[in-house]
Amino acid sequence: MSAAIEVRRHPGGCGAEVLGVDLRDLDDATMAAIRAAYAEHGVIFFRDQKLSEDDHIAFAKRWGEIDVNKFFPHIEGYREIAKVSKEKAQTTNIGGGWHTDHSYDEIPAMGSILVARVLPAKGGDTLFANMYAAYDALDDETKAEIADLKAVHSNAHVFGSKAYYSNPERTEFARDEAVSQAVHPVVITHPLSGRKSLYVNPGFVLRFDGQSREESQTLLYKLFAHAMKPEFTSRFQWRPGSIAFWDNRASWHFALNDYQGEERLMHRITVAGCALN
Ligand code: SIN
Repeated sequence: MSAAIEVRRHPGGCGAEVLGVDLRDLDDATMAAIRAAYAEHGVIFFRDQKLSEDDHIAFAKRWGEIDVNKFFPHIEGYREIAKVSKEKAQTTNIGGGWHTDHSYDEIPAMGSILVARVLPAKGGDTLFANMYAAYDALDDETKAEIADLKAVHSNAHVFGSKAYYSNPERTEFARDEAVSQAVHPVVITHPLSGRKSLYVNPGFVLRFDGQSREESQTLLYKLFAHAMKPEFTSRFQWRPGSIAFWDNRASWHFALNDYQGEERLMHRITVAGCALN
C-alpha cells in the first residue's frame, strides 16, 4: 500500500475521512499519513474495510498497547475487543451521552477503534465533538479562568452497582471493584499535536479539584454547553465496513439510541495513552 491517501474533512466540525487505504496492509509511510490525520482531526473515519478480529487487534497494536476496558463484556475468544451492543429487546444503549472513554483512569486511553459489525436498518449514528475547536473558541477570560484548573473524573455513577448501567438489561457493567477516579488538567496539551484541548466531559467529570459539585457547577456546565455547540460537532452514519477511530484527548462522542427493536453490534478496541498535562 502506497502513501497516496486522501484525507477529506468530514461535514461538520469534527473529524476527517481517510480514503484510499486498506487497514490490513499499511506501510510505514501510510501509517505516518494516518497518524498526522489522527492528530489533526480528533477522529478519523474509514469506509469499506474488511477487518477480521485479528486484523482489528493488529491495527490497534500499531498505535500502542491495548487498554482492556474493565467493564465491557468482550467478544468470545478476544478479551482485547469490547462488545458494544444493543440487542433487539434492549431499550438502553451504551455510550448514549457525550463522553470520552476512560477519562476516569490515571492514565487515560489514547483512542478507541470502533468497527461496525451489525447495524440497524436506519439510525444508530454516532456524534463527535471537537475539543481543540471548543478550546480555541473560548473567550480569553474563560481561558484564563480554566488555565490552572483540574477536574475530578469518576465512573462510579456510570458503572458502579447503583449507577446508570446497573439496570436489569446491563448487569455485566455493575462492577464496584473496578470503579475508579482520577484528576486531570481541564486544559491539556495534546501529546501528538501539541495543541491545547478541552479535557472535561459530561459523562465522567464530577467537579473541579478543590471545589464542591455546587461550586463547580456554573463553570463546568458552561464549558459543557459550549463544547457541544453544533459548530464543533459532526454526525457519522455507519455502513457495513465503517470504522471510526477517535482520540479521547481531542474529542467527545455520543451514540444515538434511535433504533428501538433492532440490533446494533460494534467491536471496540481501546489503545493505551499517557499521563496528561
Ligand atoms: C462508545 O461510546 O464507545 C460507543 C460508541 C458507539 O457505539 O457509537
